[in-house]
Amino acid sequence: MAKLRVGLLFGGRSVEHDVSIVSATSILSALDRSRYEVSLIGVDQEGRWHLTSADRALPEVLAAPSVMLPAVPGATTLRALEPTRAGASPSEPSAAAAQLDVVFPIIHGRGGEDGTLQGLLELAELPYVGSGVLSSAIQMDKDIAKRLLAGAGLPVTPWITFSGGRLDRDGLSAAAERAESEVGLPAFVKPANSGSSVGISRADTMAELVAALGLARRYDRKVIVEAAVDAREIEVAVLGNDEPEASIPGEIRASKSFYDYEAKYHDASTQLLIPADLDPDETETIRSLAIAAYRALEAEGMARVDFLFERSTRRFFVNELNSLPGFTNVSMYPKLWEASGLPYPRLLDRLIELALERHDRRSKLETHPPAATKPIGSGSGAS
Ligand SMILES: Nc1ncnc2c1ncn2[C@@H]1O[C@H](COP(=O)(O)OP(=O)(O)OP(=O)(O)O)[C@@H](O)[C@H]1O
Ligand SMILES: [Mg+2]
Repeated sequence: MAKLRVGLLFGGRSVEHDVSIVSATSILSALDRSRYEVSLIGVDQEGRWHLTSADRALPEVLAAPSVMLPAVPGATTLRALEPTRAGASPSEPSAAAAQLDVVFPIIHGRGGEDGTLQGLLELAELPYVGSGVLSSAIQMDKDIAKRLLAGAGLPVTPWITFSGGRLDRDGLSAAAERAESEVGLPAFVKPANSGSSVGISRADTMAELVAALGLARRYDRKVIVEAAVDAREIEVAVLGNDEPEASIPGEIRASKSFYDYEAKYHDASTQLLIPADLDPDETETIRSLAIAAYRALEAEGMARVDFLFERSTRRFFVNELNSLPGFTNVSMYPKLWEASGLPYPRLLDRLIELALERHDRRSKLETHPPAATKPIGSGSGAS
């Protein structure tokens, strides 16, 4: 059987650029080479794309000549990618680009998991791993995600959203007072669209709340304030399209007061506890909540569903869904599947299968009106 040509897309302009390289390196070494022929596509910090069909160390890919994205986003294949640098060999990058069966995007944060990249891949008519445009965008937006989760009857922490320049109009102090009266203190203040805890802070006093709003506003025009919960952090990995499955739950034990950027990527004392220490009923509850949350946000392929488990009440709150979770071999998502009986290389196979399945199902949908239907306005009589 011919090998499937997989494009591994990594890097990106977000603060998670380096994490993406580590994730992609793990994926590259675990992909079964008897089944897949891998092309590497690296996006550098300036947003330039670099492409090679050869197996190179990933940081080297980023040093290769860059290629241009299609100037017109209506181009139907990534074949439109051409080298920008005079003298660069045009054949290698464009040949690699033209021959992909499926893309595995592992770019975290803005421009990678917010639906924009997914939109580009849709236009290119390429199957890709993970959620589609709409769900990716929803999972990235903490305000919209909470509205949909709450609407589906799922437990989320009480929150208030400041959108559309309201912070600028009303001023930070007025916003802080409003937030304090609606959700109280202590509170967590977050840019609606962010990742890796950037721009997020905890406020215990009014002065801190004002400062936290100012900080979050620098990262997004839309900011949310939510009630702080004294909680353990439990995560569940979900995998699938129409019939998603949930892994066993795992727990994050950060030594710092909250699981911030430092704790996530630089603090070796952050521990993963798999399985999480929950009783059997709680384990079943969290797994079904994870699947319900996945469905509520119309996720496909995969997502990591993160919960806050309140210590005093032993209640779960859905904190957020991550459409492209960390994928290093010590990351929670693949670890949870490994502990649930699905080893890392098989997980990759499954994700690729799900991507192809989704693309295939979509390509079978009608795109034209039924032949018998007359276009609007073409009928007889008054119009
Ligand atoms: N309401 C809350 N109560 C208590 N702790 C919270 C709350 N919200 C967030 N935290 C803490 O802050 C951390 C970061 O918040 P959150 O997960 O919402 O942000 P994020 O930057 O989008 O994370 P990710 O990188 O996983 O997408 C959480 O892991 C948790 O430790
Ligand atoms: Mg988080």
